[in-house]
Amino acid sequence: MRLLCDTAREWVALALRRFDEVLVDHAHCEKKAAAHALSMLAAFPTVAGLPRAMARLAREEAGHLAQVLSVMEKRGLPLGRDPGDPYVQGLQALVRQPARERLLDRLLVSALIEARSEERLALLGANLPDPEMRRFYSRLADAESGHRELFLRFARRCEGFEARLGQMLRAEASLIRELPLRPAIH
Ligand SMILES: [Fe+2]
Ligand SMILES: [Fe+2]
Repeated sequence: MRLLCDTAREWVALALRRFDEVLVDHAHCEKKAAAHALSMLAAFPTVAGLPRAMARLAREEAGHLAQVLSVMEKRGLPLGRDPGDPYVQGLQALVRQPARERLLDRLLVSALIEARSEERLALLGANLPDPEMRRFYSRLADAESGHRELFLRFARRCEGFEARLGQMLRAEASLIRELPLRPAIH
């Protein structure tokens, strides 16, 4: 799977200039990723292999959250309230409600979020001034690519995978083009 639209270069400049805000948003992303994995487990307990995969994913995302929180603590940054993520909300609005479609759509939305996060974290990993933070973000970007593949593996088993993936990729690209750039992961 390849995303149809690259992140604008301006996002990198904005993210580096207001990196503290990006860090706080990143912590919220990891928190939501962990909660999301558990919510997939709760929603689809009968899909073969999914509960265990989601339990492991939740643990890994919670580990990332703890790591980001410790970077924030060193910088004296509090977590604060989650202002919400218009990009993720835009993707979630595409999820169809009938049970079979819902499983496929939720898996694809998850895979897209992981793929976009991978791209952005890798950009931070390539462009942050501090070598330790570059390594940190490159490692996290690699983890996102594993998560993307995990969601795609389950999605491929669903009927209508190819066609729906194409629609979702196009919808994701339009969201990325339409939404204003923020000092945030998405
Ligand atoms: Fe993560
Ligand atoms: Fe992830």
